[in-house]
Amino acid sequence: MRVDAVTLFPEMIDRPLSESIVGRAREEGYLKLGFSNPRDFAGDRRRTVDDKPYGGGTGMLLMAEPVYKALLKVRKKNSTVILLTPKGRRFDQSAAQALAKKKHLVLICGHYEGIDERITPLADMELSIGDYVLTGGEPAAVVVIDAVTRLIPGVLKKSDATVKETFTGGLLEAPHYTRPGVWRGKEVPLALLSGNHGRIEDWRRARAAELTGISRPDLLPTAAKTRPRKKI
Ligand code: ADE
Repeated sequence: MRVDAVTLFPEMIDRPLSESIVGRAREEGYLKLGFSNPRDFAGDRRRTVDDKPYGGGTGMLLMAEPVYKALLKVRKKNSTVILLTPKGRRFDQSAAQALAKKKHLVLICGHYEGIDERITPLADMELSIGDYVLTGGEPAAVVVIDAVTRLIPGVLKKSDATVKETFTGGLLEAPHYTRPGVWRGKEVPLALLSGNHGRIEDWRRARAAELTGISRPDLLPTAAKTRPRKKI
């Protein structure tokens, strides 16, 4: 997959996505990440990209023309163009799954108070990563690219990891434990040590449902039917 970010601050995206699993996915060619900087398309010698909002108000807005030219540099026929903004539809695991199937994503990152509204119709969708306001779209781009990259087939060596995980079945994931079996007096639940796959699955489903009810009851009505087959 190819992803291009239209951003004034490419390093804010490039750096965090050079580490760990996404860094490796880039080295191995699963993800090709590029940048297009509106500042390279500013119309004056001072490379101005922002201006005051019409009608007054605080802060500065990104001007349409430099953003448009930066977008044109990377947009192709098969591109999905996404505008990152707190006003967008909430980004979630199902959105990540849908985006992971695309050939080319272009993520437009706002900065300052936002972008001239006339850029919005150029995007196929507007996405928000949560109900809070960031200083710019760059941290949101990192979140979206990370969540999408790990779903590209081959990036995670055990693809099972993306099938059974939190949110995919509509529930939060059951807790996990590793060695030692007893850590500072705290034991690993017996069901996980039983070696009985049916019992382990039942335990995980029950814990997942319980945890979801406590932490994210809003997920329960839409969760897949993952009730335990018997009481544990
Ligand atoms: N830009 C500023 N805040 C944002 C958010 N919550 N999601 C996406 N882009 C943003």
